[in-house]
Amino acid sequence: TRMPTAEDRFSFGLWTVGWTGVDPFGTATRPALDPWEYVGRLAELGAWGITFHDDDVVPFGSDEATREQRFGRLKDAADGAGLVIEMVTTNTFTHPVFKDGGLTSNDRGVRRFALRKILRAVDVAAWMGATTFVMWGGREGSEYDGSKDVYGALERYKEGLDTVAGYILSQGYDLRIALEPKPNEPRGDIFLPTVGHALALIAELDHADLVGLNPETGHEQMANLNYTHQLAQALWSGKLFHIDLNGQRGLKYDQDLVFGHGDLMSAFFTVDLLENGLPGHPDAPRYAGPRHFDYKPSRTEGFDGVWASAAANMETYLMLAERARAFRADPEVNKAMTYAGVTDLARPTLGPGETAAQLVASDDEVDPAVAAERDFGFVRLHQLAVRHLIG
Ligand code: GCO
Ligand code: MN
Ligand code: MN
Ligand code: MN
Repeated sequence: TRMPTAEDRFSFGLWTVGWTGVDPFGTATRPALDPWEYVGRLAELGAWGITFHDDDVVPFGSDEATREQRFGRLKDAADGAGLVIEMVTTNTFTHPVFKDGGLTSNDRGVRRFALRKILRAVDVAAWMGATTFVMWGGREGSEYDGSKDVYGALERYKEGLDTVAGYILSQGYDLRIALEPKPNEPRGDIFLPTVGHALALIAELDHADLVGLNPETGHEQMANLNYTHQLAQALWSGKLFHIDLNGQRGLKYDQDLVFGHGDLMSAFFTVDLLENGLPGHPDAPRYAGPRHFDYKPSRTEGFDGVWASAAANMETYLMLAERARAFRADPEVNKAMTYAGVTDLARPTLGPGETAAQLVASDDEVDPAVAAERDFGFVRLHQLAVRHLIG
């Protein structure tokens, strides 16, 4: 595979390569570097951009002078390495003050504290030149049904998002908010557990145009959902603002494996969608944002392994992109897709101007017994995908 280039627009969270291996059962297995120390290496590997939480760069509770100094140093390092800071987000989950959430904590003082921290991170995002502001509400949720007024929590979530979006507009920032769904971990049940739930909340917001999604591979899979379908629905809704690519194997804790190291077949179709768009819909919205990885280098790895795993995300993506292009260009695949009726789904079911009454009265009804005999050839089509993937 070729080396990644800036045109591929691969980006990494500083917290990914910067993860020291702390988990609920063990302490760090690697030392932490300073945030700017990750930048040069990512650029060498062919990354185009970086992203970060406020606290990844400036320790929680730092004074104004420290904030300016450290954010400035990171920006200089990114500029020096030719990396774009494409997204910034807020940590409203690590400090114990957020143990019952930020925007939806039962404690109003905490909610005000969280909202202020988020607004300050919005300023940082704009100053850094980021175009996406991700909001992952990892602590927004509960363990005990009796402990949370869910109606109130959704009201407060909306209030918080309306405030943040209103602030972005009032400041004239070139920023869009991307909500990141996740079903659980660290809370037993997190609000906005899936893409669909987040879309439903967005529809109720004052500035819905400014708010979209940042779906993560593993998060949708933790809810036993099909990630590629979630991406397609977000695209259909015009809400696919950003993505978190990684790997997950089944219903267990959030593994954050390298992209493709979970469900490889699903990763193939994710890349097929991102690179080739929706079959049969040349004019449908396409994802044009960064290919952002939110993974964790396993705690068994040393620093060599950290860089090898970062490179693996990009290599896997590029290999899948190559195969997905060949898949779509293959005449046999195109024949199989036509046979399967894949592109026929783009045709409206009713004729132009046809009414429900006209449909009921029309004499073109198929014989259900005959129609039921149709062979769709889905398995053959899928086997062609397997051939392109591993053949
Ligand atoms: C997780 C999430 C986070 C977010 C990040 C940016 O499960 O830990 O994926 O990594 O993506 O906080 O908002
Ligand atoms: Mn995850
Ligand atoms: Mn994660
Ligand atoms: Mn994520």
